[in-house]
Amino acid sequence: MIELKNVTLTIDNREILKNVSLSINKGTSTVILGPSGAGKSTILKAILGLIEINSGEVLINGANIFSLKNDELLRIRRKIAMVFQANALFDSLNVEDNVAYFLAYNSKLTSKQIKDRVDEVLSFVNLEGTQDLFPDQLSGGMKKRLAIARALATDPEIILFDEPTTGLDPINSKAVLDLINRLKAAGTTSVIVTHILNDAISIGDVLTVINDGQIVASGSVKEMLQSKNKFVKDFFYEIFQDITLIQTT
Ligand SMILES: Nc1ncnc2c1ncn2[C@@H]1O[C@H](COP(=O)(O)OP(=O)(O)O)[C@@H](O)[C@H]1O
Ligand SMILES: [Mg+2]
Repeated sequence: MIELKNVTLTIDNREILKNVSLSINKGTSTVILGPSGAGKSTILKAILGLIEINSGEVLINGANIFSLKNDELLRIRRKIAMVFQANALFDSLNVEDNVAYFLAYNSKLTSKQIKDRVDEVLSFVNLEGTQDLFPDQLSGGMKKRLAIARALATDPEIILFDEPTTGLDPINSKAVLDLINRLKAAGTTSVIVTHILNDAISIGDVLTVINDGQIVASGSVKEMLQSKNKFVKDFFYEIFQDITLIQTT
């Protein structure tokens, strides 16, 4: 369970997050949807405790991450993994060592157990057999799946995805969205940031629409599609048009 309560963040006198409150239930996938610059990535950074907020609270399983001691914060951080927009792979490590990195760092597993876990998560993301390749030998879609495999390796309770399909072609996008749906089926809590409406609709249990640092509306896909909120309606207009076109042709 992740809760943001009245989170405010100001940088250089600019309010980046304005009184943001958000509840994310265990085992659900929540999509944070909004235009570029809305504050989506900043919300993920706040959940990870990577930025210090000015006021409000960020609670992970009830614990306020900004008032925890270092060792308690580390314990909670280990439950959360992040798939960064630019993947943040280690270019000098091969696929196997990229996936093993946090496993080797965090756990007391034997090298055989680490290797087995690496093989397991690589197979989950359909990258079996790539262990010896380096990131620059992989396509964009494969890099993204590697970043997801690395995030999965430590079996986190919560995975945060920042724009997981941005820059991918439709086939690779679909592969990533399918992976996120399979994680949900396995009980993982995920928070996915995107500006792509179709992606939000295909993976979200809950859609939270954000604009200019503020939460505009939040609810199920159906509720958002029927929302009377002007910003949400305008933002969804494109999709309504597509649907209308499909229905009338
Ligand atoms: N470290 C920072 N310093 C100054 N401005 C920032 C910083 N991080 C984000 N911002 C600003 O905050 C706003 C929200 O950024 P971000 O969360 O990255 O948006 P999104 O992910 O929705 O595109 C943007 O206007 C961005 O320029
Ligand atoms: Mg962003």
